[in-house]
Amino acid sequence: MARGPNLDTFISAADRALRALLAPPAAARPVPPMPMNRNREAPAGDIALSEDQKRESAALMRVNHAGEVAAQALYHAQALFARDPQVRDFMLQAAREESDHLAWCETRLKELGARTSVLNPLWYAGSFGIGALAALLGDKASLGFVAETERQVEGHLKSHLDQLPPEDARSRAIVEAMVHDEVGHGQQAQSAGAAPLPGPVRELMRRTARVMTHTAYRM
Ligand SMILES: [Fe+2]
Ligand SMILES: [Fe+2]
Repeated sequence: MARGPNLDTFISAADRALRALLAPPAAARPVPPMPMNRNREAPAGDIALSEDQKRESAALMRVNHAGEVAAQALYHAQALFARDPQVRDFMLQAAREESDHLAWCETRLKELGARTSVLNPLWYAGSFGIGALAALLGDKASLGFVAETERQVEGHLKSHLDQLPPEDARSRAIVEAMVHDEVGHGQQAQSAGAAPLPGPVRELMRRTARVMTHTAYRM
């Protein structure tokens, strides 16, 4: 039976928010392995990157990390305000899988000697508000929002595969594994009954994401 949020669910939501923002990254799955080298004998090594390449990789991985903070917030809000318990469980399960992405990106940023976006609390808060709005429009719209978000994230991650230094096999392996998962979540949302979103909403989502990606690239 559908039930609305109560004090317990709000406390759990606050706990999830704090974990997404403050807890050290803990991934259920290890960082995706690098592909084999051209002779397919051994994984391509983490070839020494130039300082410029490291800076570019770090900026892109910081954007991806910020995107994953936003994804956590969207899923948490959509779970909190979902009407059907199955939709709520879907959102929470997706958030758990996405927390691997958060951890992988953070690990890679550390390896590159870089930090996460200082604006992560802002990305979380803003995205939580957007996720809550999507959820309040009803479960089908909320699932439609997931499907559209994942579609846009897939396009964005693929553009990063074009931008990452070709030598940075480690970051590329992470982004490729993320693309695979995002496509899966989008398909699951579709099969769970996602409603298509109106064009202007899709455009607004694209513009909002653009602001976040451009800002997180720098700070
Ligand atoms: Fe993700
Ligand atoms: Fe996703």
